[in-house]
Amino acid sequence: MTIAIDGPAASGKGTLARRIATHFDFAYLDTGKLYRAVGMAVLRNGGDPADEEAAEDAARALDPVALEDEALARDDAARAASQVAAHPAVRSALMDLQRGVAASPPEGKAGAVLDGRDIGTVICPDATVKLFVTADVEVRADRRHKELLDRGNASIYARVLEDLRERDARDRDRETAPMRPADDAHVLDTSDMTADAAFDAALDLIEAAVREALEKSGDEAE
Ligand code: CDP
Repeated sequence: MTIAIDGPAASGKGTLARRIATHFDFAYLDTGKLYRAVGMAVLRNGGDPADEEAAEDAARALDPVALEDEALARDDAARAASQVAAHPAVRSALMDLQRGVAASPPEGKAGAVLDGRDIGTVICPDATVKLFVTADVEVRADRRHKELLDRGNASIYARVLEDLRERDARDRDRETAPMRPADDAHVLDTSDMTADAAFDAALDLIEAAVREALEKSGDEAE
């Protein structure tokens, strides 16, 4: 079973995905971290994230240890991530790893939750359930600003808002795997929801979808 969770930056999809994975005892893959690690690797090599070749090299050489780097939470990592993520060669270099987690979740888990931008549309088009988590951009900026401060990073609200708008536009308008809800995704707007309310709403959607999938496989078996 695969649960695909997509949505714009700071929509709360990461918190939600982690809680859902814990609830079902599924594996969890934060695919944004992969792009962040590639973006950071390019910056650290003194390269330009807009340079497709440099970004592709970094994606092919991605070291799992780099995914543990605390610097990945920073906004410069997010900005570099969305630049490297626009290159088709980077996206295809990271594809097998993501599909592998969905197809054979690590540690023998019965399922996987993947969160990102193109999980429901490109990486796992056959996911059991697809959620597209969103919220107003001001609400998202407020959440991200607080999150950065809580982690001890410097943050200015107006700058965070501008960064999110810029990143949303780049993620939405790119040609390869643009951010959009899959046709069969459930859109969850969390603007007026607490994290607990978003979790409850997501759980209702997932349970209904699982029931439907089981009924369908039962019908096919008859
Ligand atoms: O945590 P936040 O929502 O701010 O971002 P993230 O999920 O860590 O992703 C960082 C950037 O990576 C995004 O702005 C996208 O450009 C890119 N990304 C992507 O293109 N595809 C994914 N599946 C995940 C992230």
